[in-house]
Amino acid sequence: MTTLIVVGAQWGDEGKGKVVDVLASQAQVVARYAGGNNAGHTLVLGARKIVTHLVPSGCAYPGTACVLGAGMVIDMDVFQSEVAELQRAGMLLGDELRVSLDAHVILPFHRQLDGLREDQASGGAGRIGTTRRGIGPAYEAKAARRGVRVRDLLDPSRLRVRLEQNKQHVDFELQRHGVAAIDVDAIVRAAEGWAAWLRGKVCDVGALVEAAVRAGQRVLCEGAQGALLDLDHGTYPYVTSSTTLAGGACAGLGIGPTRVDAVWGITKAYTTRVGAGPFPTCERGPLGELLRSAGDEYGATTGRPRDCGWLDLPALRHAARLNGLTGLCVTKLDVLAALPSVQVCRRYADGAEPGEVLLEDVVAEYEPVPGWGDPQLRERIAVARRLEDLPSPARAYLDAIEATVGVPITLVSVGPDRAQTILTRAAFG
Ligand code: GDP
Ligand code: IMO
Ligand code: MG
Repeated sequence: MTTLIVVGAQWGDEGKGKVVDVLASQAQVVARYAGGNNAGHTLVLGARKIVTHLVPSGCAYPGTACVLGAGMVIDMDVFQSEVAELQRAGMLLGDELRVSLDAHVILPFHRQLDGLREDQASGGAGRIGTTRRGIGPAYEAKAARRGVRVRDLLDPSRLRVRLEQNKQHVDFELQRHGVAAIDVDAIVRAAEGWAAWLRGKVCDVGALVEAAVRAGQRVLCEGAQGALLDLDHGTYPYVTSSTTLAGGACAGLGIGPTRVDAVWGITKAYTTRVGAGPFPTCERGPLGELLRSAGDEYGATTGRPRDCGWLDLPALRHAARLNGLTGLCVTKLDVLAALPSVQVCRRYADGAEPGEVLLEDVVAEYEPVPGWGDPQLRERIAVARRLEDLPSPARAYLDAIEATVGVPITLVSVGPDRAQTILTRAAFG
């Protein structure tokens, strides 16, 4: 087995950065396939904490290829400063970075439009609560076939034609908001610097990944966001603008589905969401606040407080099906132990199923989870390094998740550090 996809199985922030960092120790290639710097993936390596937004979370291993696929949208200024920061921390000092020529580029007017639209909608219906990073407008331009790709940055005359085309579509909206029109010359000038920086880093990512697979190398495909934020299958319209599911890895990298061997999905031991949209198991009272403070649930990209609630097993089962999960990673088990009592949602009222019924229309039913609420539980969980080390209520909780979702648990995370991990199955066979 050489190719493993790791995806978020909830609304993002499940711990993809941590899990990818742990598994990347065994991989030669780590490849992001979707999203942009709306993502914030956290790696904790002892005393060091690193948050990646565009760079794949394999960056802590010198020599491991870190690949940005065609399905991504890249804000070049953010990318350059992220790489510079990682290099100051001693990473990416070789030729690890590889960027798809076909990835799309987030430009200043995409960021402006994202913010303006959110501001205009604020307080009213239609506010998505985006990260305001220009993600939606960049994917919109891509679908409208006027997007700017990385390869366009290397060809100033083609870039200029593309930008003029965007000007025709976008200036009207910018000016309606009292914002300056697209400055084509300024972007073409900035692109000279981006192109110089990109030289030696761009390639046909599909060919690179295919060659790695054929050579028997281990390829780890890193998802961004989560299943319920997927453009097609998430809680539309409260979603991101890309395919977050495992199915998106093939298109987003340029490889065929026959090259993929396994898909692991990540879930927290509870649920969080940031931004607008339905969240059936959200706890709006003190328990939600307790979860937020115990789990330090603040967005790694925007710093926004995340809404918190109980584990939603019907939604997780749905995510498992959408992704064809072969393994389940459960993170933040230690955090759940900080609560005086724990509940879980195994079903929605009337047996409603996500996919058939909108999540805003379901009512979560809860069952208490026995054995939690012991103040010493968290410490015992945090030091566990094998399943056998876990206190029995924690093991019973994991067994119940596995049985309800129907996917084997392959990894359990008991703290933010990469060492605080229990791997129950080999990631690469
Ligand atoms: P991602 O977007 O899926 O990569 O997740 P984020 O990095 O945005 O958010 C996950 C947060 O939980 C980060 O602050 C991680 O350091 C932290 N984290 C990950 N796994 C665990 C865990 O098992 N226990 C605790 N306490 N924190 C964790
Ligand atoms: P990672 O990869 C959590 C949410 C935003 C908003 C919606 C649309 O760290 O898990 P966008 O800026 O993408 O147009 O916003 O999606 N969102 C995320 N929530 N984690 C993320 O990424 C997210 N990326 C986008 O909050 O609700
Ligand atoms: Mg995140």
